[in-house]
Amino acid sequence: MLPTPKTVFVKTYGCQMNVYDSERIEDALRPHGYTPAAGPENADLVVLNTCHIRERAADKVYSELGRLRNMKDARSGMQIAVAGCVAQAEGAEISRRVPAVDVIIGPQSYHRLPELLTRARDGGLSVVDTEFPAESKFEKLPARAASGRAPSAFLTVQEGCDKFCTFCVVPYTRGAEFSRSVARIIEESQSLIRDGVRELTLLGQNVNAYHGEAPDGSAWGLAQLIARLAEVPGIERLRYMTSHPRDMTDDLITEHGRNAKLMPFLHLPFQSGSDRILAAMNRKHTVADYLVLIDRIRAARPDIALSTDIIVGFPGETDADFAATLSLVERLTFAQAYSFKYSPRPGTPAAGLATPVEDTVMTARLTALQHLLTAQQKAFNTAQIGKTLPVLFDKPGRKPGQLIGRSPYLQAVHAEADSRLIGQIAPVAVSSASLSSLGGVIVAA
Ligand code: 5AD
Ligand code: SF4
Repeated sequence: MLPTPKTVFVKTYGCQMNVYDSERIEDALRPHGYTPAAGPENADLVVLNTCHIRERAADKVYSELGRLRNMKDARSGMQIAVAGCVAQAEGAEISRRVPAVDVIIGPQSYHRLPELLTRARDGGLSVVDTEFPAESKFEKLPARAASGRAPSAFLTVQEGCDKFCTFCVVPYTRGAEFSRSVARIIEESQSLIRDGVRELTLLGQNVNAYHGEAPDGSAWGLAQLIARLAEVPGIERLRYMTSHPRDMTDDLITEHGRNAKLMPFLHLPFQSGSDRILAAMNRKHTVADYLVLIDRIRAARPDIALSTDIIVGFPGETDADFAATLSLVERLTFAQAYSFKYSPRPGTPAAGLATPVEDTVMTARLTALQHLLTAQQKAFNTAQIGKTLPVLFDKPGRKPGQLIGRSPYLQAVHAEADSRLIGQIAPVAVSSASLSSLGGVIVAA
């Protein structure tokens, strides 16, 4: 018997790993009759795929749940599920604060969602599943569905983190490091390629700690995985994120120099430019380690564009510590970066520290840092004017006749182009630059 047709709206918060997981949640629901809805208003099921990394991310979930509860009151049969890291970290609190939630499901259990929705409906109660099951969700989820994919896709190859930075919830919400096998990653990449994907971004909370089982039974690191994926017919570009400086191995750095499909862009968080703060953060690297690393990476691939994550206002951060962060940014120059005010997370070691930085000080530091980062990003983009860059076009632009794509350095690039170029790489002579994108014209290859 065919399942009754239903609609689902999945709202994603947080990182790219959640974007990937949301697609897999839709894949898990499809065999049970669910098709995607455009918004929550008419959906039979709304899934919030949540983020717990900073307080503000978690707060957004509760305000959204307030709105959804009102919708559910007005409509019979609607179900609400909370997935992701807030579900994992505070599942019991969610069901206490918002009893209208039907299912609370942690990031490791998405393959069980259809069954839990049925249990919640039959039992009329909210069901919580935040176990770290012995079997991997990747083995249990149905294959990814063909659905006119964009040319660039995420592929999760690694999950979890064993680093335990003292500010971070990830080791608690996503659990210990786990790497998928090479064979399963190749299989998934082939199915994405059949669907029109040309660029893969390999994802993991700590992706360069990847150590998955290879076909010969040995464990491969990320460099070997990238080298193998570059041989898969149809793959034109490879990227990976997010990395930890401690796991930038020699072979991975070498791969940046020798593999033309590995794009010259690296997101490598350093968090703070002060050794004292790095130690308190348990980052397991110093400023000098980071500088040496960047020198070696730039020697291997001189045009590499750097991105990073920085936290201001970690407990105990002085003006001098913050000045060291600014001077590291000045010295290295970043093509783009994410910067955050420190946010104490329940259950993490840093949350117990008794030396908080005042919010007004944090705000002033964040403003100063972002001012510098914005100037660097603008300068990096402006420096592309006059160059010709290969652009992978992935969608129509805002203006008619225009397409948007990505440069090797991950910049958005607009150009007048026939929509048949979507999914293809074409050379673009860059003639303009703004903070967030480049513009240019397609030239003959
Ligand atoms: N407060 C502020 N920023 C944080 N990050 C992780 N945990 C916290 C926190 N408690 C930032 C780090 C990390 C990025 C994903 O989020 O910079 O690299
Ligand atoms: Fe969090 Fe540190 Fe692991 Fe990154 S390396 S996920 S910041 S604990």
